[in-house]
Amino acid sequence: MRRFLFIFGTRPEAIKLAPLILQLREIGNVSVCVTGQHREMLDQVLRFFSITPDYDLKIMTQGQTLFTVTTRALGSLEGVIRKDRPDLILVQGDTTTAFAGALAGFYSRVRVAHVEAGLRSFNKASPFPEEMNRILAGHLADLHFAPTKAARLNLLKENIPAEQVHVVGNTVIDALLMGLGIIGDDERGFHEYFRAVDFSKRIILVTGHRRESFGRPFDSICRALREIAKEDVQIVYPVHLNPVVRSHVFPLLGDTRNIHLIEPLEYSHLIWLLKKCHLVLTDSGGIQEEAPSLGKPVLVMRDVTERIEGIRAGTALLVGTDRKKIVSSAKTLLHDGVVYSRMARKKNPYGDGKAAARIRDIIRRMKWKSR
Ligand code: UD1
Ligand code: UDP
Repeated sequence: MRRFLFIFGTRPEAIKLAPLILQLREIGNVSVCVTGQHREMLDQVLRFFSITPDYDLKIMTQGQTLFTVTTRALGSLEGVIRKDRPDLILVQGDTTTAFAGALAGFYSRVRVAHVEAGLRSFNKASPFPEEMNRILAGHLADLHFAPTKAARLNLLKENIPAEQVHVVGNTVIDALLMGLGIIGDDERGFHEYFRAVDFSKRIILVTGHRRESFGRPFDSICRALREIAKEDVQIVYPVHLNPVVRSHVFPLLGDTRNIHLIEPLEYSHLIWLLKKCHLVLTDSGGIQEEAPSLGKPVLVMRDVTERIEGIRAGTALLVGTDRKKIVSSAKTLLHDGVVYSRMARKKNPYGDGKAAARIRDIIRRMKWKSR
């Protein structure tokens, strides 16, 4: 039996790798190493998908820097890989854990597979440091699972050998469908959880956490939300645990009656809210990918996005962090039914829920040359 070692550390990586962990257990011995780059937000996902890590590096510190995350992860991964002796290491996306995991695999001369490969904004400064993390992870990897054709083309343009690149869809849609299946139709617990929210009004789901927006852009986002809150809506904002995010959001939005600042949500609660909401304002990569499956228009509060498929399909709009632009785009969607229904289409360019099974089949058929 082949040995597979998953290395991940944050909430989105855990969500997107959970379906693949289940699939690879069918064809080999799976070990899970979490760096613990995130703690509470990672543990929420591990609980929801019933994943118990074999290794937990517990690296998170409050207000950690990119240096400490990288060095603490890399330092501990050497011993994990030596002990686990995997045939294949799997990393996901563009976090610092993903980069450190790919580098650790490369240094250990173990094959590395990169899941959600090939996303590019073509701007080193945005998203920061994710654009460089995914480029570096991609060039360290030996096997690339691209979610879309555009992602595959990006890799080919960087001279990644075509035979190493497979277009499989994004595993986030697998996770979303699994999650929707697990929560089913029973609404009672959710209404109780969100009892402060008035569901007779239109709900706007908001998330925001990107480093390149810290400072003025984040304040401008918050001022936009205050203005949108003058409409007859309920804004629900699960606030990321990053202290920098919280230091912007709570002082600027904490006293607005119809803005609900809540703690990061369990995945089940997030997707339930996504189902119930009218509109999404976010800078999150994962939420941009999930929302079109539920027919929810997304205003992307970033200057660039690597998720261009949603923009091209017309289900997402890139509005940046400018207050006026965010407000006017949100108001258009609240008041213009034609524009709203054009964006609220249930059509997902990112995947069909079968990405993890495709990856499993590709790995099962792989020829394992010795190294
Ligand atoms: C990280 C990723 C980002 C991803 C995001 C998902 C990097 C460089 N960034 O950013 O790509 O979009 O995760 O959410 O890899 N914290 C807690 N508990 C938690 C999680 C975070 O307290 O469960 C706080 C800690 O103070 C921590 C800080 O948030 O130091 C920042 O966490 P970090 O992982 O460095 O950055 P994120 O902004 O979460
Ligand atoms: N998510 C969640 N609870 C929340 C906010 C987000 O479970 O309170 C999920 C969301 O559905 C998506 C993923 O977390 O699958 C996205 O994570 P995040 O926005 O932190 O990171 P990004 O995708 O931007 O890297």
